[in-house]
Amino acid sequence: MCGIVGYIGDRDLTSILLVGLERLSYRGYDSAGIAVISDGELSCWKKPGKIHALNEALKNMIIQGQVGIGHTRWATHGEPNEVNAHPQLSQSRRVAVVHNGIIENYLELKSKLKKEGHIFLSQTDTEIIVHLIERYLQDDLESAVELAAKDLVGSLAIAVVAEADPDKIVVYKKGSPLVIGVGKGENYIASDVNAIISHTKNIIYLDDGELAIIEKNNYTIKRNGKIINKEIQTVKWDAVISDKNGYEHYMLKEIYEQAIVVRKLISKYLQNNKVHFKSLKLDKEELAKIKRFIIQACGTSWHSGLLGKYLIEKYTRIPTEVDISSEFRYRDIITEGNKIVVAISQSGETADTLACIREAKSKFFKVLSFVNVKGSSIDRESDGVIYTHSGPEIGVASTKNYVAQLVSLYLFMVHLGILKWTLDEEKVDVMLNNLRRLPEQIDKILQQTDHIKKIAKKYAKSKEFIFVGRGVNYPTALEGALKLKELSYIHAAGYPAGELKHGPIALIDENLPVVCIAPQSETYDKMISNIQEIRARKGKTIVIATEGDENIKEYADDILYIPLCPEDLTPILAVIPLQLLAYYIALELNCDVDQPRNLAKSVTVE
Ligand code: AGP
Repeated sequence: MCGIVGYIGDRDLTSILLVGLERLSYRGYDSAGIAVISDGELSCWKKPGKIHALNEALKNMIIQGQVGIGHTRWATHGEPNEVNAHPQLSQSRRVAVVHNGIIENYLELKSKLKKEGHIFLSQTDTEIIVHLIERYLQDDLESAVELAAKDLVGSLAIAVVAEADPDKIVVYKKGSPLVIGVGKGENYIASDVNAIISHTKNIIYLDDGELAIIEKNNYTIKRNGKIINKEIQTVKWDAVISDKNGYEHYMLKEIYEQAIVVRKLISKYLQNNKVHFKSLKLDKEELAKIKRFIIQACGTSWHSGLLGKYLIEKYTRIPTEVDISSEFRYRDIITEGNKIVVAISQSGETADTLACIREAKSKFFKVLSFVNVKGSSIDRESDGVIYTHSGPEIGVASTKNYVAQLVSLYLFMVHLGILKWTLDEEKVDVMLNNLRRLPEQIDKILQQTDHIKKIAKKYAKSKEFIFVGRGVNYPTALEGALKLKELSYIHAAGYPAGELKHGPIALIDENLPVVCIAPQSETYDKMISNIQEIRARKGKTIVIATEGDENIKEYADDILYIPLCPEDLTPILAVIPLQLLAYYIALELNCDVDQPRNLAKSVTVE
């Protein structure tokens, strides 16, 4: 994964690199480092831990220089310590490289280089890149990078600086994203536009196999050794500065923003009771002819996809499959018929999801994506896009964007239902009116925070949790379990409630809390039977139920009420107490809720 940034110009190099890294920390925060060339001499500083540690280390230093590169790491090869942090230096310490990606043949190359006398200090795959570059470095840096790139198998976006050729940054892209920011008398490179957007909006998106030589007043892009011209694109959005707005954490702020997000989506996509998706780019006739959807996504976005399947199949009768992206890619998918691959991604940069889009397009599928981050790779590479408009989501655990994905999928389903004539006007009116009531209902749930805090305190010492739900709330069970795992490091598993008796019920004893998602629904009675089975084995039940359900008191150790809404919309409400439960349990355990260990906001390696 990782994020890379680089600058060449006369302004304050260190601050440009550090701010860029902060903005890229969603790509990993295991360590950070910068390398700078000043008066022809290369210097490097790096620290394990979050960018803050590097900031602290550099705060009283005056670093001169006009050329520099920086890196924020999500550890793939080697533990997150200082030696494994990037920039990685060559043996002479005169060449430095930052890398996003994975070199698949690094062991083979490493042993070859070792035989030639190279000594390696780190466990990273990246170190071999810089050794190779130094080995090839004779005249100019770009030729050495080009030769090294030919030896490398895997994914890489790299930026390289060298004392031997001090007035340039050379970058190369294959697999991982990389952009050039074009300025006046200065230029930038970064893994994504947002790292440099406050300095320039003139962006060149590099494609795989392209190498670029970045100088102060110039840049040259090459493919297979030949200079090519690439269009400069002007990005239309501004830097979004996100602060905590008085909340203790970004995650809490984002949980509290959910009603606003739903309102925004409704006002963006609903006009005169009709659904309009401006950026969809697939025309109505094309959509109406679709015979099959294949949704692919990862993590929380995959959970959204699971609900998408229920909704699309129930209301439009179009068969819909849902795959985890890393599985979709390696199965022999049937390509016949009129079909669309749907990608769902908050970041728009998830490597597995992106790889599936490319795979799908190579097999002549059209790709429609639900994306939050505009200008991201998935946004740019999809045939059509529906933006989830949840604004910047900084907390690593997805909250408001999950709700935004569910609402967007719901609106998409309504849109399709109208096109396919499976939904009539009257039914659509009812559905949309129910949707409009959600923001108020979300706010009502958020008023129960004190009650949720108490429940969190009561169960925070539990070693594991189970989450169960049925139908549309089976994905909610998965999402609740994922939130708890990633925030509190407590093991949690989500199951369809009916599956309990096929194995997981063996886990239940008086120490196991089971979160049961049981709002009013077609399967309510079945859920009650499942809850009774849990209670009969002394499991502790925390039940998400519909307001006014007095009956549930008999079966629940603790209850979290959500307002009454149609079953199809209950996942949007039911997930909110689960997000808060995970958040407060994590606080009880002193966990870093915004940046949990081992995670990154955007998973940019496969
Ligand atoms: C969510 O809380 C997780 N951090 C993670 O599962 C995430 O949803 C997944 O990595 C997919 O990311 P994307 O939506 O940006 O593609």
